[in-house]
Amino acid sequence: MRVLIVHAHHEPTSFNSAMTREAVTALTDAEHEVVVSDLHAMQFDPVSDRRNFTTVADSAVLKQQAEESHASANKGYVAELQAEMDKVAWCDVMIFQFPIWWLGLPAILKGWVDRVFAVGRAYGGGRWFDGGVFAGKRAMCSVTVGGPQPVYSDIGVYAPINDVLFPIHRGIFAFCGFTVIEPFVVYGPSRISTEARTDELWRYRERILTLDRAPMLPMLNSADYDGLVKKRVN
Ligand SMILES: Cc1cc2nc3c(=O)[nH]c(=O)nc-3n(C[C@H](O)[C@H](O)[C@H](O)COP(=O)(O)O)c2cc1C
Repeated sequence: MRVLIVHAHHEPTSFNSAMTREAVTALTDAEHEVVVSDLHAMQFDPVSDRRNFTTVADSAVLKQQAEESHASANKGYVAELQAEMDKVAWCDVMIFQFPIWWLGLPAILKGWVDRVFAVGRAYGGGRWFDGGVFAGKRAMCSVTVGGPQPVYSDIGVYAPINDVLFPIHRGIFAFCGFTVIEPFVVYGPSRISTEARTDELWRYRERILTLDRAPMLPMLNSADYDGLVKKRVN
């Protein structure tokens, strides 16, 4: 199995970094292949604009998706983006490792998606959802949150974690064809004991070593839709 971990945490002593190290050790010990894109260590630039391209389709007006289509057809991505695109194409499983920030992705990871998942490389030409570019691959969020579990439930101030992660699961992973593995969530790692943190890392190791049979979220069936809108049932 070939696993890409896109790691978005600035602090090597953080729980997120411990999770990525645990995953790398577990996968390597089990003789899987693993590549980590450590975005902060790479000083990844998250801003998506003309700096993505070596090609120019229209020098007067910047239409990002039009430039992406042109770059995709003309090998027109800067080397740092092409390298990330190649990693996504290479992997069987992609893991996003990140702390929830403002109920979403940290900017550096959102920017990685904005730049790497370009038209012609990750979607486009009617290729989406179950007919998506990355059909056959799987993707998973491995996240930490600040609050305890009840905060992320029907009685909490936020919502169940799958609702919080919906834009990533549906709008990024499923849209581009990935099958979505149930997220792995650690609630309040800085509030729990050292023993509990060790237990959580062990639990994560178990998930990593069973990725091939980890539970999946329901897939969207494009036959149920006219384009992007659900067919009426008469
Ligand atoms: C900018 C920022 C925004 C945050 N937003 C949230 C949030 O919306 N919900 C939440 O539960 N925790 C939030 N947190 C807390 C982090 O999720 C928490 O500190 C992290 O998951 C702990 O993992 P770590 O020790 O590896 O950093 C936020 C933290 C920061 C720095």
